[in-house]
Amino acid sequence: MGSIDTSNLKIGFIAGGQLAKMLIQKASQWDLETYILDPDNRCASQGLTNHFMQGDFKDENTVYNFGKQVDILTFEIESINVNGLKRLVKEGVKVIPHPDILEMIQDKGLQKTFFEKHHFPTAAFRYFDDKSDIIKSINEGSLTFPFVQKARKGGYDGRGVSIIHSQNDLENILDTPSVVEEAVSIAKEISVIVARNKQGEIQSFPIVEMIFDPKANLVKELACPAKISIEQEKKARDIAHQLIEKMDMVGLLAIEFFIDTKGDIFINEMAPRPHNSGHHTIESNITSQYEQLLRAVLDMPLGSTKMLSPAVMINLLGDPNHEGAVHYENLEKVMAIEGAHVHLYGKKITRPFRKMGHVTITDNNLENALAKAEKIHQLLKVTSWKTDR
Ligand SMILES: Nc1ncnc2c1ncn2[C@@H]1O[C@H](COP(=O)(O)OP(=O)(O)OP(=O)(O)O)[C@@H](O)[C@H]1O
Ligand SMILES: [Mg+2]
Repeated sequence: MGSIDTSNLKIGFIAGGQLAKMLIQKASQWDLETYILDPDNRCASQGLTNHFMQGDFKDENTVYNFGKQVDILTFEIESINVNGLKRLVKEGVKVIPHPDILEMIQDKGLQKTFFEKHHFPTAAFRYFDDKSDIIKSINEGSLTFPFVQKARKGGYDGRGVSIIHSQNDLENILDTPSVVEEAVSIAKEISVIVARNKQGEIQSFPIVEMIFDPKANLVKELACPAKISIEQEKKARDIAHQLIEKMDMVGLLAIEFFIDTKGDIFINEMAPRPHNSGHHTIESNITSQYEQLLRAVLDMPLGSTKMLSPAVMINLLGDPNHEGAVHYENLEKVMAIEGAHVHLYGKKITRPFRKMGHVTITDNNLENALAKAEKIHQLLKVTSWKTDR
């Protein structure tokens, strides 16, 4: 670890959404010069960054030209043109995490193969080329219901995932290269965020429990610490540490797990970037996930992940019946609740289920935090002045 002068470093982020916004706030604290690439010139971090480039991060030359301006490049999204990143690495730009890791993670099939090859627990799976390939296997009897189909590439927030329970769901089968997994009888979904720096130092955050909104198929709220046994906690954290080490990865890795009804742990998927399940660390841990990623990419010692207090995080989703200029109802009532920390991402237009912000509730007692979260769910609505359905 040499001498690091953050004041003279240029750091680039692809893209400029809410995760970048929270990263930039910490980067600014350390006087880093920040660069953002995003197709939307009204993205969440546009007003905060020192330099903004409007452009498509799926385009090789755009990624390359953006990256040439900075010393260090990292990302908050996965769907980036990897060839552009690889060219930058060849020309001496520090792209962290390494584009080879991003390339593997972009493909859910390659992820699953990686887990299997290194004996990490994950639901059994097969590859399929297209819909007709799946139908053929069902007809032959080699594929039985229920199963979970996932597009190998391009899915997010549950798009690209189809749960097929019976013949009645056949129309929901996606016609794209996919992995088909055994359906796990899920008792809980948890997440572990782990970081590793160049020296090989590894730190993971206390485990988070995800609670889903079945209608939106998005995380409704999450709670930390997760209500799981000490053995399950140890197992999940051990797997996270082994995984980031096995990938020889520098950066931040979020790993989603299932715990099944028998109590066994399976890896679902991973993301090599800050994650929705780590927002609360801003207020509830000594080091936030955003600071930890910056520490890792800057080749700094990692920070302590110790919890300062339990926390619940709720996503502020656009009301299903509203679309248009955004309005936050009852914000002042939420602000009056002790330990409620409101984050608005700055998206000017709300749409049904759009992620508009989040609230983290810290309380020394997790049950109190959950009760406050319920109250905030009732109070805070993301609507539009114009109610055009
Ligand atoms: N094998 C499985 N068995 C049962 N349920 C599953 C399985 N795989 C996924 N699911 C359910 O589908 C959800 C979405 O799956 P996954 O996390 O792979 O998709 P995603 O599009 O990457 O979602 P996100 O971006 O929200 O993380 C999971 O959180 C889980 O509830
Ligand atoms: Mg997921």
